[in-house]
Amino acid sequence: MTPRELINRLSRGDASLRAACASAYGPHPELIETACTRLWALARHYADTFSADDTIVVVRAPGRVNVIGEHTDYNGLPVMPMAISRDVLVMAARAADVCVEISNVEGTFEPRAFHLERHIPPFAPGDWGNYVKSAMQGLIDHWGSADGLSGLRMAISGNVPIASGLSSSAAFTIACALALLTVHNRTLDPLLFADVMAQSDHYVGMASGGMDQAASILGRAGACLKIDFFPLRVQPVQLPPSTAVVVCHSRVKAAKAGNARDEYNRRVVECRLATAVLHAAAPASAREPQLLSQWLAWDTNGIDDALARINATLHPEPYRLPELARILALSEETLRATLCTTKTGICCNEPPDGFQLLKRARHVITETRRVEAALAVLTAMPPDAARRFGELMNQSHVSCRDDYAISCPELEELVSAARDAGAYGARLTGAGFGGCTVNLVPADAAPQFIAAVNRAYYAPKQFDHLPDNQFIFAPASGAGVLVA
Ligand code: GLA
Repeated sequence: MTPRELINRLSRGDASLRAACASAYGPHPELIETACTRLWALARHYADTFSADDTIVVVRAPGRVNVIGEHTDYNGLPVMPMAISRDVLVMAARAADVCVEISNVEGTFEPRAFHLERHIPPFAPGDWGNYVKSAMQGLIDHWGSADGLSGLRMAISGNVPIASGLSSSAAFTIACALALLTVHNRTLDPLLFADVMAQSDHYVGMASGGMDQAASILGRAGACLKIDFFPLRVQPVQLPPSTAVVVCHSRVKAAKAGNARDEYNRRVVECRLATAVLHAAAPASAREPQLLSQWLAWDTNGIDDALARINATLHPEPYRLPELARILALSEETLRATLCTTKTGICCNEPPDGFQLLKRARHVITETRRVEAALAVLTAMPPDAARRFGELMNQSHVSCRDDYAISCPELEELVSAARDAGAYGARLTGAGFGGCTVNLVPADAAPQFIAAVNRAYYAPKQFDHLPDNQFIFAPASGAGVLVA
């Protein structure tokens, strides 16, 4: 199909296009309407920027909201997110050469162009084009070569709020990668695709786990996903009946390119140091655990035992490099070059307040227990499932705030406004340091909930006129091809 034909079909209200949208977004007329409007804008933009007569494909990749299981993924421990109906759409066609050209419909981002090659040099740090490069580099690394690849012309449209903890960057990267696959008629098994995309995130300096990519690629309409890692496994689960998921934006930006990224990487390093110190204290296994999940499996008798060991082994005072070097029998220089350096190659210097190993390990292990408990509630689905699930979300928030130190005053205000407004559970979601809260509320009271949080949080701050403060999300399906 060409952009010209797509525009004609959209103006005729073409049933097959509406059916493709319905299978992506579910039977929600307003979402199908929005999708058709965006497709129209995408086709117009593509035609104006490139050509109305290219043979194009359109792919989409959703953002995600994490319901419970925060900062567990890079420790190899489980999470429970869902894909959302906000997504990134890419209209793409094969180029005659190896040049990738990208143009953003909303005009938020400047056009970019680069060549596909075995090793793609990055743009300046923080440049949005690096997300496109990371997508392409991830696939090229997986294939081991850029041979046989043509460049792409891509028009991009996104409606996942940026820097809000809803994985706009994973949605963007995955949509670009899916565009490259689709125009070349190549496919990847979805689990493998999720792994490849999780690896590619390191291109932009994040030592993140694989939750965002797995949720965006493997999302299921109507279901949350319990995700386990190494190897990646996904189990769809239903949220309690008659509940709705409402997401509230604090309006504090948690930019992945800035301080939030350094704070995130610091926590990755603290978890690795905690793993090493715990193993050194009582090495039940000859194998050297790299992740808290491996330590849990190899050196302990399960979560209760792990928590007892954490409390007995790790001290509450900050750890400094000389002490860590002594415990681990390494020089400080080796320690800096190994455990303190993430897979992105960035070394995390000793923070002024030292490494907080006890708190970080305690959060990760108690959060793992909460995810397993949440799964048990959703599987058994007792009559008070919503209340019990909500209670786990509330506990998760306290742990994220007190042990993981990823909250901020605005998120605290928003969470307490949500509790006052009758949420079963309210917590920060995503990496933290700003962004959004996720709230489980009675479905029939969702409009009143939204109004009450508006009165308590947005109106006094004069944010009530801004778009995208609050959303009701139904779980959406994962990334896919909309127009082939
Ligand atoms: C970010 C990362 C994820 C995950 C969350 C915290 O979204 O990209 O991999 O670690 O933070 O749960």
